[in-house]
Amino acid sequence: MDIAKELFKSALNARSNAYAPYSRYKVGAAIYAENAKIYASCNVENLSFPCGTCAEAGAIAAMVADNGGKIQKILIVADAKELVYPCGACLQRIAEFATPETLIYLADTKEIKKTYTLQELLPHNFTAKELSND
Ligand code: THU
Repeated sequence: MDIAKELFKSALNARSNAYAPYSRYKVGAAIYAENAKIYASCNVENLSFPCGTCAEAGAIAAMVADNGGKIQKILIVADAKELVYPCGACLQRIAEFATPETLIYLADTKEIKKTYTLQELLPHNFTAKELSND
């Protein structure tokens, strides 16, 4: 199975259900998790703008709710002239469940355009060992 292709299909399908009446900017995200399952979601906006959620956040929530473990790979798709990179908040969300080697694929609606590691997109994320519970 070509995981990247499967992620692309799942993210594109989730994107088709994106609820983005305010920005009109539809985003899809799909995660290949540690448990070898795929979790996809889309952005869900709200009339109270800050209440809206990014596609990545939805996919991460679905993975966590299913006890999927860590993120092995994540793909983000949007229809844009310029490639869509995950926002800063979503990079931090990804970092919570990833390793520096976790792959991040960026796609337009036709194909995957770029592949990065998390380390490349977020070389210095917020870490505070003293906040952890262990
Ligand atoms: N958006 C995402 O879903 N993921 C990102 O990484 C960046 C932005 C969404 C949020 C909002 O619904 C729309 O794109 C425009 O900002």
